[in-house]
Amino acid sequence: MTPTPPAKVLVIDDELGPRESLRILLKNEFQVFTVADVAAGLRLLQEQHPDVILLDIRMPGMNGIDGLTEIRKLDTDVAVLLLTGYGALETAQEAIRRGANDYLKKPFDAHEMLATVRQHAQRTRLLRRHRETTAELRALNQQLLDELARKNHLAQVGQKSAEFVHDLRSPLTAVLGYVELLGNELRHSKDQLGPQWHDTAEFLRNIEQNLERCRAMSTQWLQYSRRTVQPLQTVALGEVLREVVAAVRPTCLARGIALELECDPGPGGQLTAEHDQLLNAFGNLVLNALDAVADGTGVIHIRCVCHDLQAEIRVADNGTGIAPEHLPHIFEPYFTTKGEAGTGLGLFIARQVLADRGGTLTVDSRPGAGTTFTVTLPLNAAP
Ligand SMILES: Nc1ncnc2c1ncn2[C@@H]1O[C@H](COP(=O)(O)OP(=O)(O)O)[C@@H](O)[C@H]1O
Ligand SMILES: [Mg+2]
Repeated sequence: MTPTPPAKVLVIDDELGPRESLRILLKNEFQVFTVADVAAGLRLLQEQHPDVILLDIRMPGMNGIDGLTEIRKLDTDVAVLLLTGYGALETAQEAIRRGANDYLKKPFDAHEMLATVRQHAQRTRLLRRHRETTAELRALNQQLLDELARKNHLAQVGQKSAEFVHDLRSPLTAVLGYVELLGNELRHSKDQLGPQWHDTAEFLRNIEQNLERCRAMSTQWLQYSRRTVQPLQTVALGEVLREVVAAVRPTCLARGIALELECDPGPGGQLTAEHDQLLNAFGNLVLNALDAVADGTGVIHIRCVCHDLQAEIRVADNGTGIAPEHLPHIFEPYFTTKGEAGTGLGLFIARQVLADRGGTLTVDSRPGAGTTFTVTLPLNAAP
């Protein structure tokens, strides 16, 4: 901690004698400035911001009482102590009414002078510190209010977007239905259309793929946004992983892909989460692995280990791996290398869902060798 610099005292007195004796008396404890008139005092006040001003009442030019008014226009906090000669008591009391903090009679008593200056210097510092803190608190409060307003706005936008995505699905399904009808029509009119037919069929396939993509994206967004309404429940991690494996088992069998689940969630292995969200998050990891591995030789290994109320789940594959230039982007929304077949939302949403439960999702990948996604999730204490 840096030591606090000494308090500053400004002496305004036209007479050299008292000015100098005050300087000598105070200089050991304070940083002392001395001037001979109010005008010079006001300049110094603005440059040095003293904590205490010792102001002589009787001075040629501007006297102490008028000087006090000018000082208060510049600084409401600095302590102003008036130095009064014999018989000027009433003037001094008038000065207190006008904003002086105290008065000391000349000739002054050294002990009393030191004690009074000390006390007022401390008071000014406390007052200034208090003002600063109040200003800081006010600014902080405003910042929090702004942040809250922004969050409320975002929450509203989020709610509205979820409704919007939901409403979008009806017209989307209708359009997809008509595209399918058009496809059927097209197949029947192959002969009439002649060489044009292939182009037209290709156009229609393109439309259909893009519409399917819109539908897949809206499904994923809805699954994600639903978490705000679905209640949290106690979920057994092992069960969720077994469900994921059961869902993709037929595809693996058909494509000759080895799918292994090694699971030791122990007697605990439970966490508070939204079951479907968790299922989708792990499902997305396994579906990505399925996209990356080759038929016949593909291996997907899922391993779950629990200790110290923490689960670690690894989903490893021996697929294509991820190019180093893609790696920094795979968790970004809409980043996909799968063209029309991808939405780029799977990993983004999985990471959000896991983070919401205090978990993490990281990746380790070697192009040509395979990819491992690692999930960590905090577990509930055993009941
Ligand atoms: N197991 C994996 N092996 C190789 N690449 C992967 C794997 N998982 C994810 N990726 C890469 O990350 C990208 C983003 O994945 P994701 O967010 O699930 O979107 P999508 O699967 O729709 O493309 C993928 O397009 C792919 O390039
Ligand atoms: Mg995916």
